Amino acid sequence: MKKILTSILSLGLAASAALAADTITAVKVSDVNDAASWAKAKFSSVTLYPQTAVHMNDKKANAANADDKAKKADVAALYDGKNIALMVKWADGSKSVQGAYSSDTYSDGFAVQFAGATKGSQALPYIGMGSNGRPVVVHLQKATEKVYEPNGNKDVSTQINRQQTGVFGQELADYDAKVASLAKTDYERVFVAEGFRSLTEIKDGSVKSNASMSYANNGWSGTVVRPLKDDYVNFKGTVPVAIAVWDGDKMGRNGLKNLSSWVAVNLEGMKPDTKVVAEVTEESKGNAEKGKVALDANGCAGCHQITSKDAPSFMGPSLANVGGYSTVAYLRESILKPSAVVVPGYNRNAHSNTPWYTIEKGKRISAMTDFSFLDKKTVEDIVAYLKTLKAEVE
Ligand code: HEC
Repeated sequence: MKKILTSILSLGLAASAALAADTITAVKVSDVNDAASWAKAKFSSVTLYPQTAVHMNDKKANAANADDKAKKADVAALYDGKNIALMVKWADGSKSVQGAYSSDTYSDGFAVQFAGATKGSQALPYIGMGSNGRPVVVHLQKATEKVYEPNGNKDVSTQINRQQTGVFGQELADYDAKVASLAKTDYERVFVAEGFRSLTEIKDGSVKSNASMSYANNGWSGTVVRPLKDDYVNFKGTVPVAIAVWDGDKMGRNGLKNLSSWVAVNLEGMKPDTKVVAEVTEESKGNAEKGKVALDANGCAGCHQITSKDAPSFMGPSLANVGGYSTVAYLRESILKPSAVVVPGYNRNAHSNTPWYTIEKGKRISAMTDFSFLDKKTVEDIVAYLKTLKAEVE
């Protein structure tokens, strides 16, 4: 990948200014792994919103991210007969790299999430790690220091006790020397998830992934290459992706990130998946002003923080950026069928008085009122208002 990155960086961020996009065209090339192919790439701007649905139990980190703005990323895609490659470029004023030994450093990183379905198209999964029956495959890449991992399990640093220099001093020195000489700088992982607490790392090699990231000119450039078809996905004309970036400077990790909504990547020259394209491009036809009135009248604010200016609520997820990373279809479904997707809510032990769901016959049932009694027009108005809930771009 190194070769590709060097040539990409020379393209620079400026070359890629474009309008914000729900759909992107993956340019057909003969080989996505050939660095020269990126000269043909067309960049589109995608907006990534602070994921505020779930607050972390970490005051310092929450304070560092209070009042956060949305970020722009420039995204391009290429494909050949077998693989798709995505490139994501985003500004980040400081390079934060994961330390190999300490767990209290936070690194910059990015992830590309693919809607996983091997048979036909279906409604897009929940943006935060998929949902029951609607899986996602997540390719994660973090910026790391050099790490030497003789067994390939990426666990050596955790086996080392830096305090015990008296006993292990020589061993540590040998180890450090070995790291310096043999290390690779890669931290790349692939996960499959079908919603809440189902995130599973794929280690059996059934997903071929090649990701890397590189820092220059106050920004990162990251690439992910993966097959169009494997055990988890079978993309024909359109590849639904979502993009997330973490900022180590702001203690970003897990849910503390900026996240895009679903983006439809259409494979040039192939018939697009009209269902997916329709879902990502659908605009709300409701009246946002009326929607705000209806939202107040229906007590939504009793459980939800609505804008980032309102007091946080433990009763339900914050909706402060929900319009940024959710599709219209998802918002409509959230109102009419709250249990269709259950947002990974508060730790039930930490907030035992306000669990976001109960479990009945093995199924998660949302604590949210079922609003399917609302007339269609009111629902559309509320959806239109929810779509306005998002942070400004920084
Ligand atoms: C009794 C408390 C309660 C009320 C009232 C309530 N909600 Fe919710 N809502 C929740 C909970 C809990 C969740 C998380 C579980 C889930 O996904 O259903 C949720 C989830 C959501 C989501 C998904 C958020 C995300 O990040 O994906 C949306 C959108 C939403 N609610 C909108 C509304 C609207 C609009 C109203 C008013 C018409 C409303 N809610 C009223 C408790 C409530």
